[in-house]
Amino acid sequence: MDSEDPNDAEQYHLEVGPGDVADSVLLPGNPERVPKVTDAWDHSEEVARHREYRTATGSYEGTPISVTSTGIGSPSAAIAVEELARVGADTLIRVGSCGAIREEAAVGDLVITRGAVRQEGTSDEYVREDYPAVADHAVVAALVAAAERLDYDYHVGLTCSTDSFYAGQGRPGFENFEARGSEGLVEELRAANVLNFEMEASAILTLANVYGLRAGAVCSVYANRVTGEFRTEGERRAAETASLATHLLAQMDERVAESAASEWHAGL
Ligand code: URA
Repeated sequence: MDSEDPNDAEQYHLEVGPGDVADSVLLPGNPERVPKVTDAWDHSEEVARHREYRTATGSYEGTPISVTSTGIGSPSAAIAVEELARVGADTLIRVGSCGAIREEAAVGDLVITRGAVRQEGTSDEYVREDYPAVADHAVVAALVAAAERLDYDYHVGLTCSTDSFYAGQGRPGFENFEARGSEGLVEELRAANVLNFEMEASAILTLANVYGLRAGAVCSVYANRVTGEFRTEGERRAAETASLATHLLAQMDERVAESAASEWHAGL
């Protein structure tokens, strides 16, 4: 490649280049979910696959759209955001799964993130609510409008993105691993008004804010940590989550999103 501009190059991890992705990209964690997402589209083509990153581009109801799996966790998701930004993506929506820590967010419901805090490692220090990992208002409002239209049970709230699934989310550790910081964690985060745990939203939203991209996150509840409910056939619902975001993106033009945003904020 003659140019040294990283934007002109095939990206190091995702192996996508300029022209490979649409402006809007859905971000599931699991690469296996990519074909489930594209099943609903008019047509699609897998444009790259390397490590946990699998990217397909196509169209849905005539609107160009892409999907890239991020893998699990912030470092992996951050790479996806940086490399997608370099090849021109401007709207990123995480479509994932999560564990809820409030009774009302039942297994199978959706959680739409309005902002995300990050819990670092397994310590009990996490970044506060005023940290700028804020979802784009228009994306939040449009996800809400799509969830209403499609008759999903949904909740809008604060997400805690953790760096581990076990101790980081207050699950007992293995015998030889100290579950530092996990005791009382769920109660502490409930008191801080957190609605759900997952592992990628904070990185995606933070970097989107840095790069001036539009971003949001919608997750299907796989586990409720208060009631003990656990979804075993969750894959089905996750594919539906992805189709919700697909549907939203296909319909989202500035005007619709802005008026939905003002209606939603007026209702707060
Ligand atoms: N993803 C998570 O990070 N935690 C859960 O409990 C379920 C999905």
